[in-house]
Amino acid sequence: MVNVAVIGGDGIGPEVVGAGMRVMQAAASRDPDLDLAFTEFPWGCEYFLEHGRMMPEDGIDTLRGFDEIYLGAVGWPTVPDHVSLWGLLLPIRRRFDQYVNLRPARLLRGVRSPLAKPNGLDVTVVRENTEGEYSDSGGRIYKNTPHEIAVQESIFTRRGVERIVRYGFEEAESRRGLLVGATKSNGISITMPFFDEIFNEIAQEYPNVEASLMHADALAARLVLDPAGFDVIVGSNLFGDLLSEITAAVSGAIGIAPSANLNPEGTFPSLFEPIHGSAPDIAGKGVANPSGAIWAAALMLEHAGHPKTGQKILAALEDTIDAGTRTRDLGGDADTEEMTAAVIERLA
Ligand code: IPM
Ligand code: MN
Repeated sequence: MVNVAVIGGDGIGPEVVGAGMRVMQAAASRDPDLDLAFTEFPWGCEYFLEHGRMMPEDGIDTLRGFDEIYLGAVGWPTVPDHVSLWGLLLPIRRRFDQYVNLRPARLLRGVRSPLAKPNGLDVTVVRENTEGEYSDSGGRIYKNTPHEIAVQESIFTRRGVERIVRYGFEEAESRRGLLVGATKSNGISITMPFFDEIFNEIAQEYPNVEASLMHADALAARLVLDPAGFDVIVGSNLFGDLLSEITAAVSGAIGIAPSANLNPEGTFPSLFEPIHGSAPDIAGKGVANPSGAIWAAALMLEHAGHPKTGQKILAALEDTIDAGTRTRDLGGDADTEEMTAAVIERLA
């Protein structure tokens, strides 16, 4: 039995995880080894407006007992983003030590990239997910005076850098053997040389991986000019965030890309979500692209020990898009329901 905690969250979040759950159920009904149980939690910005918190005080303890967490999106205009995110998604990533944020991007058949020459784009970003630039260390002083100061410290620990870089090498070794480390040691003169040093140390352990460091700005440009030249990219929390948004965009649409927040040791549940946000402009209209949530569901089932079923879901999604059932962001006119039903039909 795979016990999944489901947090639809805000905006289109509940719509897309609803689609993903239906697809998973359909896939599970064809896999005698897979029993799925979903428990939904109504946490998010609406919950915040009612209770003054994004999730209950014992929310983390509640989630701890599940095998996996499936999340839609967090954020709504009525609650400042840093409040909603630091009240739900970011504490889950940290308290469950989900230090790897794995973000595969591939040009699915039937999807058009905005690039003229995306040929063979298939790249995974390995993003550090628990420290780095996303830090609550710092503060503001002399508030509301002309001398006001805001300081926020980036936290890079040897343990944190080592484990994410090592994960990047492992990932590259299991793929095409190419790894690029995203740095910025030309401008950021303390933490980034530290990152580079550790990257080069660990590279010694992986003679079969062709590894190099690239400044994140040049890397961003390179991803647009020649994304097919990349296999795996490893980077800090912020760089990984930005670069994975680029890889998602150049592979066709932000609405397709998934994100796996992994606790590789399995001490805690991992969390799976689409990369996209809550999209207030189309929320509640039933037109959101469920692909990112469906691909995230596929990754979740793979992680839960059902790789074949996960791969079947991704194949069904790709075939559906290729056969022409596409939401508006992909140039089609299908709504969420039509696209979900088409994926389920393909699974049959
Ligand atoms: C993501 C999102 C989050 C992040 C935000 C909403 C805090 O952009 O998952 O990529 O930056 O981690
Ligand atoms: Mn992001």
